[in-house]
Parts: sequence; C-alpha cells; structure tokens
Amino acid sequence: MSKNFDLIVIGAGPGGYIAAIRAAQLGLSVACVDEWSSADGKPAPGGTCTNVGCIPSKALLQSSEHYEQAEKHFEEHGISVGGLKINVGQMISRKDAVVRQNNEGILYLFKKNKVTFFHGRGAFVKAVDGGYEIAVTGKQAETLTGKQIVLATGSRARPLPGVAFDESSILSNDGALRIGSVPKKLALIGSGVIGLEMGSVWRRLGAEVTILEALPAFLGAVDEQIAKEARKAFDKQGLKIELGVQVGEIKKSKKGVSIAYTSAKGEAQTLDADKLIVSIGRIPNTEGLNAEAVGLQLGERGDIVVDDLCRTNLPGVWAIGDVVRGPMLAHKAEEEGVAVAERLAGQHGHVDFNLIPWVIYTSPEIAWVGKTEQQLKAEGAKYKAGSFPFLANGRARALGDTTGLVKILADAATDEILGVHIVGPMASELVAEACVAMAFRASSEDIARICHAHPTLGESTKEAALAVDKRTLNF
Ligand code: FAD
Ligand code: NAI
Repeated sequence: MSKNFDLIVIGAGPGGYIAAIRAAQLGLSVACVDEWSSADGKPAPGGTCTNVGCIPSKALLQSSEHYEQAEKHFEEHGISVGGLKINVGQMISRKDAVVRQNNEGILYLFKKNKVTFFHGRGAFVKAVDGGYEIAVTGKQAETLTGKQIVLATGSRARPLPGVAFDESSILSNDGALRIGSVPKKLALIGSGVIGLEMGSVWRRLGAEVTILEALPAFLGAVDEQIAKEARKAFDKQGLKIELGVQVGEIKKSKKGVSIAYTSAKGEAQTLDADKLIVSIGRIPNTEGLNAEAVGLQLGERGDIVVDDLCRTNLPGVWAIGDVVRGPMLAHKAEEEGVAVAERLAGQHGHVDFNLIPWVIYTSPEIAWVGKTEQQLKAEGAKYKAGSFPFLANGRARALGDTTGLVKILADAATDEILGVHIVGPMASELVAEACVAMAFRASSEDIARICHAHPTLGESTKEAALAVDKRTLNF
C-alpha cells in the first residue's frame, strides 16, 4: 500500500530538510527521504553540510585555531602553556559529536513539525494521476505517492579524471575530515574554498601544506584587493600555493602519493606527500533518482535543469540546492527550500540571488556580498569605493588580530551599496550587516550614520562607509 503525501522531499541536506519543515509549518503533509547513515548505521540527516561539509569543517577549523593560538599567540598575552600537545583523535571525536548533535537536532525538528522521515534511497517509479510514485529502498522499503516532489539530492566531490578517491591517501572532503594523525606533508589540488579551509586546518596542526591550482589568479571570484590581502596572510603563515599549474600523473606508493605537474613557468615538477586532498569542485547527485522513468530534464553537468523559481520540466517537480544551478552553498539551498515550500502553499516565496553572501572560514576570514570591483569595472558601472583597515580598529588591536580590511563599493550617483568585501577577523559575522543593508537597498551614508557599538569590529564597516565619502574619522 502506498503512503500518500502532499509533498515528498528527496534529500535531507540543508535544502531538503528546511523545505520539508517549512512546508509542514504551512499545513502540507510532508515526507522526507534521505539515505545518509552514520558509521553505526543510524539515519544521519543533514546531508553534506552536516556530515562532511560546513559543520565538521568548522569544528576542525575551530580546534586547529585554538591550537595555533596557544602555540603562537598566547605568549604575547602573557600566557605560557607548557607541554602543548595535539590529540588528533580527540579533535576528530569532538567533530563527530558535533555532527551527531546536528543529525539528532534535525530528527527532533522533523518530529516537532510532523514531517515523516524515511531512511533510504528515494527514486521515481512513475507519474500517477495527480502526482508521482516514489520508491524508498533500504532498511525501510516503502512506496510513497506525492502530489508534489522536491528534489534536494545535493552534490559529491569531483575526482580528477582516472584518479579515484580511496579516502586513505587520495582524499575527498570526506577523508580530509577524518585524517587520524597530522601528515608530515599534505598536498591539495584546487585552491578554492575547500583547499584553503582544509589546508589551513592541517597547516595549523603542523603539516607542510602545498596547494596546486590550475588557474593563474588566486581566488578569481573574490574582489582582487581582498584576494591579494588574503594571499599575503596565507604566505606569511607558510601555506604554499602554486598557481597556474597543470597536474599530470598521480602515483600512489607505500609512503604516500606522488604528483607530477607542470609549473606556471613550464617546468616539470614532482610533489611528494603523505596524503592528497582533491578539492576541484563538486558534481550534482542525480544518479539513482531514476530520472529517465519520468523524463526529468538534466543539464550537461548532470544537474537538474530548473528556472528561477526552481521548477523542473515536470509539473509538480521542483529542485533546489547543490543539484541545481547557482552557488553550492548551504544557505542558498535553505533559501530555495523555504521559497519552494511557500510557493507550494500558494505564497510568493522569493530568493534574491544577488544577495547570497560567501564566506571562506580561513584565518583571516574572507566574506563578501554583492559585486566585486572587477565586476563593476567590466560592467562599466560608475562606482565609489571606501575601505578601512582593521589595523586602525581598537577592538581588532585588543584582539591581537589586525589583518585585513572592510571595503564598500557604492553607486557613484545614488550611493546605493553594490558590494561589501571583508578580509579579517570575524568577517563571517560582519558580512550579515552588509546583507541587511543591501536587502533594504541602503546607501553607504545610511551605514555611516548608524550608531555602531564601541569597541567592535563592526565599526570598521561604518568607517569603510565613511571612507566612501572620503571622511573616515579614525584613519
Ligand atoms: P546536500 O547537503 O548534499 O544533501 C543532499 C542529501 O540528499 C544527502 O544527505 C544525500 O545523502 C541525500 N540523497 C541524495 N540522493 C538521494 C536519494 N536518491 N535518495 C535519498 N537521499 C538522497 N556551504 C556553506 O554555505 N558554508 C560552509 O561553510 C560550507 N562548508 C563546506 C565544507 C565542505 C568540506 C563541503 C564539501 C561543502 C561545504 N559547503 C558549505 C557546501 C554545502 O555543504 C552545500 O552547499 C550544501 O550541503 C548543499 O545542500 P543540499 O541540501 O543541496 O545538498
Ligand atoms: P571550488 O570551486 O571552490 O574550487 C575548486 C578549485 O580547483 C578552483 O580554484 C579551480 O580552478 C581548481 N581546479 C579545478 N580543476 C583543477 C585541476 N585539474 N587542477 C588544479 N586545480 C583545479 O571547489 P571546492 O573547493 O572543491 O569546493 C566545492 C564547493 O563547496 C565550493 O565551490 C563551495 O560552493 C562549497 N564550499 C563552501 C564552503 C564555504 O562556504 N565556506 C566551504 C567549502 C566548500
């Protein structure tokens, strides 16, 4: 007997679980199907983000940051630590416990909101009158029928052609979060977000880290001034980044991995390392959905083709998050999940794709929202720029972390803020003010006239806004 629902969500990552909860809040009967299991076979909803992405990476970034602070920066505060040691096993267990708390939290939220959860793989069987039949396979085999379907199946790490992940010496993000002891030499391919975050974790813990990047420019999507400032800081920390390389043969040996590559100067090189993390982007997950059975349209990247409202080519079938176009970010997936649930309930859910912030959780953190200076130049837009260095911010000095700056770009005629770019301490938190301001279409003068508490890092945002009008007070 088939179980009937108004909505079946496939995938319980940040896109799917949030869509399921919001739809249930709006009165729909909702099922959510997810196949992720923890090491002991328990359901582990939360997707990539919770299990092998945002949450565990931030847990290890925090642990390694504490270690680096104790090792290198406590002394200047007058604190000496004798016999400082790293217990990687404990760091990984703590990370696993944080992940489990989040898995349990989602199961609790499903109960609280009356979302029926099925642990297993969901796949299309066929279109039926007024909806779709979905088969759930796994321990909890079921047949479900949904009037509406939301596909939120996420993404997985992209391997280099012909180089499979073994998660022992050639690691995806999954293995990168489970390394049992600090490798002496760690190589990474791809200096994007994962390369920089994971490279930072293991560098802080004592590994010699080298990142090989194909593109000639460092962090090409980031505002150039900010990327330059970040690069300076990473160089100082000893994070080696080689740009413009062409990776060749990768060989595994008893000792580790050997990576042949051609440098930007055209020289043949070999990099030997104990472990290699491949972080060259991600592939949308559509395998196993049996998309052919219903004629679901897939794109060239294997993504599900959707319009601005997340509608697929099939009536009543929607897709959100990493499996569709746009940035692969948890908060983008969540926003789409809420918007689709609201549309299903007859409301006007909306996502402003121009206002999705980005954060790279390195030290210094890098965060931005809106247009970069190079984008504005390319568009021929007339703009004003103002920036303020953390070096001149009292709170940053007190914290002992004065790297970086806040930069605001505003329309030359109207003063509307077009982009805010931050590199420095707590950039991840500071960018929220920029998002709010831009959502309300604030001018730089609006931020400049708002009282910011003293002493806070946020005063740098106010000062950057003042700098747009060339009237900083503290620099
Ligand atoms: P996912 O989180 O991938 O979830 C999809 C779920 O669907 C999974 O549980 C999967 O098992 C399940 N599934 C797939 N197919 C089926 C099927 N047929 N049946 C049943 N279940 C199925 N983003 C940020 O915004 N901030 C960060 O700090 C951040 N850090 C990251 C760090 C790393 C190392 C990585 C890899 C990613 C990070 N991301 C971060 C990206 C973020 O994890 C993704 O953008 C986000 O998880 C996408 O959410 P989603 O719901 O679309 O898919
Ligand atoms: P990415 O797209 O950020 O970076 C991949 C890098 O690899 C690029 O710089 C690219 O030029 C390079 N590259 C590609 N092929 C290469 C090759 N053959 N040789 C050398 N370099 C090559 O992808 P990444 O780091 O794998 O992360 C995937 C996604 O996960 C991110 O784009 C982001 O959407 C998400 N993520 C978000 C985080 C955050 O929000 N803080 C943290 C981690 C991941």
